[in-house]
Amino acid sequence: TAPITGHDFLTLLDFTPAQIDDLLALALKVKQEPEQFAEALKGKSLGMIFENASTRTRVSFEVGMTQLGGHALFLSPRDMQIGRGEPIKDTANVLSRYVNAIMIRTNSHETVEQLAEHASVPVINALTDAYHPCQAMADLLTVYEQKKTLKGLKLVYVGDGNNVAHSLLAAGAKTGMDVTVASPAGYEVDQAIFEKAVAAAKETGAVLTQSNQPEEAVKDADVIYTDVWASMGFEAEQQEREQHFAGFQVNEQLASLAKADYQFLHCLPAHRGEEVTAEVIDGNRSFIYDQVENRLHAQKAILLSLLTTI
Ligand code: CP
Ligand code: NVA
Repeated sequence: TAPITGHDFLTLLDFTPAQIDDLLALALKVKQEPEQFAEALKGKSLGMIFENASTRTRVSFEVGMTQLGGHALFLSPRDMQIGRGEPIKDTANVLSRYVNAIMIRTNSHETVEQLAEHASVPVINALTDAYHPCQAMADLLTVYEQKKTLKGLKLVYVGDGNNVAHSLLAAGAKTGMDVTVASPAGYEVDQAIFEKAVAAAKETGAVLTQSNQPEEAVKDADVIYTDVWASMGFEAEQQEREQHFAGFQVNEQLASLAKADYQFLHCLPAHRGEEVTAEVIDGNRSFIYDQVENRLHAQKAILLSLLTTI
């Protein structure tokens, strides 16, 4: 497999199925034998720009760098010159002279692409309006651990056709896992991204579909996944969305249509009583905290792959 050393990590669609497989294998190895990698990024630094709030992404990347012998810097636009209008181009060039990789969370995917274009070090997408690839790697790892395979499984995402849904489509396309996104009318996934994922899925045989009917969609699902109804940047639409998303709540009744051993996943943060009931998210089919932990292992694998020739 061609190594991804020096690449950007903006969307899983940029990588081959074999490269994604390698990343997953490395993540499993890192999880099993963390001490083997304790010095792998010695002397290396990761700059982390957060334009939006984060608990998991920030902590897992920062701890991940520490566990690999490196260092992470939390950079807030409130304190950086970028927040006062310094161009992305200059920020990219400046940071590239100091750090070995840049991670960024920002609303606009174009900002990340611009940063990647001008940076001479790898840029990692830590969530944009379009994709959440680091989350998707942790999700794949969590499904694989339980099901021992990905190919041929059926993952059904119920809810908003957002960044997380897009990355799950990409993840399915690259691993051969079938993915259905069931959303209310008007909240479907971006059709251009859907088509890109469908084109990529030809290589693995993954079946990617869309639906407006959650009951029909979750039938025989191996994995049910949901996310908030109003993502960051859409908070003002919360009430309106609550009306449109009625019927798309993942509750025991809906989940009973899936396979008995289905796995429930959610990227978190979650709103109990909205997109999912407490019974489901806190129930015995829920693997949300394994998913949380796997952010750490998956991202260590991403960092190692981008920054070394492991
Ligand atoms: N799932 C996720 O990315 O969580 P944070 O927003 O807390 O980073
Ligand atoms: N879709 C959510 C994911 C948060 C991790 C958002 O964009 O806010």
